[in-house]
Parts: sequence; C-alpha cells; structure tokens
Amino acid sequence: MSDTTRILVLYYSRNGATQQLADAISAGITKAGAEAVLRTVDCDENAACRRDLIVDKDDLEQCDGLIMGSPTRFGHMYSGLQKFWEQTSKEWLKGVLVDKPAAVFTSSSSMHGGQESTLLSMAVPLLHQGMMIVGIPYTAAELQQTDAGGSPYGASHVEHAAGSTINQYENKLAEQLGERVARTAIQLGR
Ligand SMILES: Cc1cc2nc3c(=O)[nH]c(=O)nc-3n(C[C@H](O)[C@H](O)[C@H](O)COP(=O)(O)O)c2cc1C
Repeated sequence: MSDTTRILVLYYSRNGATQQLADAISAGITKAGAEAVLRTVDCDENAACRRDLIVDKDDLEQCDGLIMGSPTRFGHMYSGLQKFWEQTSKEWLKGVLVDKPAAVFTSSSSMHGGQESTLLSMAVPLLHQGMMIVGIPYTAAELQQTDAGGSPYGASHVEHAAGSTINQYENKLAEQLGERVARTAIQLGR
C-alpha cells in the first residue's frame, strides 16, 4: 500500500453531469494533498463513466475514504451502484470501510426532483459499512449563494437551474467536499 492518502471517488454517469462533479471533487482531494482514485461500476455503451476503470473490491480495502456519486433516478441512486453494494458482504463483514470518512453527490434534471432523498439514501449503505459521513457545513459561503445545486447533505448539480455544465457554486461546493473528506482522512491518521 502507498503512503499517500487515497480517496475513492465511486460514481456512475450516463451523460456527464455527475462526472463533472466527480472531477471537481477530485480536484479538492488533490488540493488537500491526497490522491483521488476515480472508479465506476458497469457502464452501458456511450456512457460518460466509461472513461474510468471499473471498481474492484480491493479498492474498498485500499482506500482511506470514499465519495459516492449518482444521477438522481426516481429519487434514488442508479441501480448499478446499489447492486455493487449488495455484492460487498465479505468486505462488510470484514469491516474494511469502518471508521473511514465518506460523502455523497448527485445530479438531477429538476430542482425538486429528489436530490435530497438520493443523497440521504446513498449515505445509508455507507453507514452500514461503518463509514463516517461528512457533509457540507453552512460556513461554506456558496451554500448560501447557490440557486442551483449544493446541499448540506452533499454536492449536487441541477440541470434545469444551472444548465448542462456545473456552475461556479456547484463546482466550488463539490471541490470543498472532496477537500473536506481528504482532510478528515488525513486528520484521522490515514
Ligand atoms: C431513469 C431515469 C430516472 C430519472 N429520475 C430523475 C428524478 O427522479 N429526478 C430528476 O430531477 N431527474 C431525474 N432523471 C434525470 C437525471 O437525474 C439527470 O439528467 C442527471 O443530471 C443525469 O446525470 P448524468 O449526466 O451524470 O448521467 C432521471 C433520468 C433517468 C434516465
């Protein structure tokens, strides 16, 4: 294992919006002096997430923190991510993620289309795995300024409010979330 603090950014993205958040989060992780390890689950043909490697169970053991992102799908995470967690009984029983910091992010088309339920429900399997959930505090000025994505529950993007590209507030909040998880992992001695 390397000496560098490694934060696993596990996400799915069909059209690239969630991937933009993953990249902003990764920039924040790097800023904190840690390594961002971008991984995805099975991606269909032409999906944006095909850019990155598919997650391996070893990635869970080797990471010092994890940030999970999904498009909002009827108020929940993408089923492929849920399926991945349902295949981690061995890692769960071994406790490979226990006491590691974690956070979540999402992208939706509409403002009130279920972002918060998606973010909160994504935190549930991470809590079962024993992870320590990190959010975005209101001391982040952009949380008061945003009229699109960004929430105390996690980073987010709203297409109908911000357009196809994440806006400056969404970008900054995602970056800060990545930085915060990485900083927390480092403070925990990881
Ligand atoms: C099957 C399906 C379900 C969706 N459900 C919702 C939803 O509940 N609320 C919403 O606002 N957008 C919903 N969307 C839109 C996506 O969440 C949105 O376009 C998202 O930004 C896509 O992210 P991506 O570019 O990373 O693939 C849905 C899209 C699909 C294909």
